[in-house]
Amino acid sequence: MKVAVIGGGGREHTLAWKLAQSPSVDALYAIPGSAAMADVAKCVDISLSDLEGIADYAVSEGIDMLVVGPEVPLTEGLADVAQAKGLAVFGPNKAAAQMEGSKVFAKNIMKKYQIPTAAYASFTDGDAAKAYIREQGAPIVVKADGLAAGKGVVVAQTEEEAIDAVNAMMEDHIFGASGGRIVIEECMVGEEASLLAFVDGKTIVPMISAQDHKRIFDNDEGPNTGGMGAYAPAPVFTPAIQKVVEDTILRPVVDGLKAEGITYQGCLYAGLMITEDGPKVVEFNCRFGDPETQAVLPLLDGDLAQIMYACTKGTLSPDMVHWKDASACCVIMASAGYPASSHKGDVISGLDGIDSDDTMVFHSGTAKQDGAYVTHGGRVLGVTAVAPDLKSAIEKAYDKVDQIHFDGQQVRRDIGAKGLKHLP
Ligand code: AMP
Ligand code: GLY
Repeated sequence: MKVAVIGGGGREHTLAWKLAQSPSVDALYAIPGSAAMADVAKCVDISLSDLEGIADYAVSEGIDMLVVGPEVPLTEGLADVAQAKGLAVFGPNKAAAQMEGSKVFAKNIMKKYQIPTAAYASFTDGDAAKAYIREQGAPIVVKADGLAAGKGVVVAQTEEEAIDAVNAMMEDHIFGASGGRIVIEECMVGEEASLLAFVDGKTIVPMISAQDHKRIFDNDEGPNTGGMGAYAPAPVFTPAIQKVVEDTILRPVVDGLKAEGITYQGCLYAGLMITEDGPKVVEFNCRFGDPETQAVLPLLDGDLAQIMYACTKGTLSPDMVHWKDASACCVIMASAGYPASSHKGDVISGLDGIDSDDTMVFHSGTAKQDGAYVTHGGRVLGVTAVAPDLKSAIEKAYDKVDQIHFDGQQVRRDIGAKGLKHLP
């Protein structure tokens, strides 16, 4: 099978790394890919906004399946465009991708199908939104309806902060059209975890759980980022919780969408808050998480290409998906200025000799200059280690991180620490 990974970040590097190990993959492409992905895939420079161009190229090369990493091409309808040309696409079509692309859409589905989530109201009028905030009081959460690169959520501790967020989204348009409609919701309390699942339209096979670390500094302080590290599995996510999530969240979403005439196929990502009343949905994403993927996929025991292809054909079965009895920890190394900005061109040293059977360096934002890797984005590297238990995975990941260096590097030192607290 010929497979093309769409995207060029750390998640896509991980997808390509795992797909390259699939016995069923004869040729691997990446559009646009990255300098590091070129080690495992043929990189082809087509813009992610050129949906027709991507699909036409895939047809001309005889590619059998596209695996779409990022949310933007999915919400813009890459799957629809490519499927119309006869390609198999792992990833939801435009209608199903609304589960991530519109928070109002996702909340309405959750309400209709009684899926546990924070109580909410949606607004297109700023004054009505502010009146609702005053009525509900703080803490309260304000979210832009559309995509905002993970930055469209304000967890406001005071009413003033919430009202400032409404003004910024609806009057100052800091997220453009994404903030024309907003959701205001109850602030949930608990520990967060992510559960990703393979979905073929009807069969749902959950992956192992993971936990992201969204804030830039240790102890979850400082501004939100795309994610500073992840580990899997997450001990907070017990088998009993997993069962509740499957029965009350994943199954009703996929069946509910079906009842609406929408088939969900691809990776469904449930961002969850484990509250005192049980797991509740924080958000859905229509694709793999970044950096959850860098911790989850190294633990997959199975042929990823076959699993994905089965999703596209409606033939997924649980016995295709197995997990190593081990833990993985991924520590992100970010560049100076992140998350407000990023710093390009800092030379990265110490990468040689790190990749092995149980330690891998996934590139989120690097480029090659004169044969050497340099920083080329906010998140730069994801250093993953796999070990028999979480504690050893964490130690091994940091041991490798400490061998790598670039100027201005930012690294959280507590990735996985929350997980250890749940263990004996
Ligand atoms: P989202 O982009 O929806 O995942 O939100 C980003 C982050 O904001 C989440 O990972 C949570 O930490 C936080 N958050 C979002 N919604 C809520 C909520 N209703 N209650 C508490 N925290 C939330
Ligand atoms: N790690 C969060 C996300 O991928 O949205």
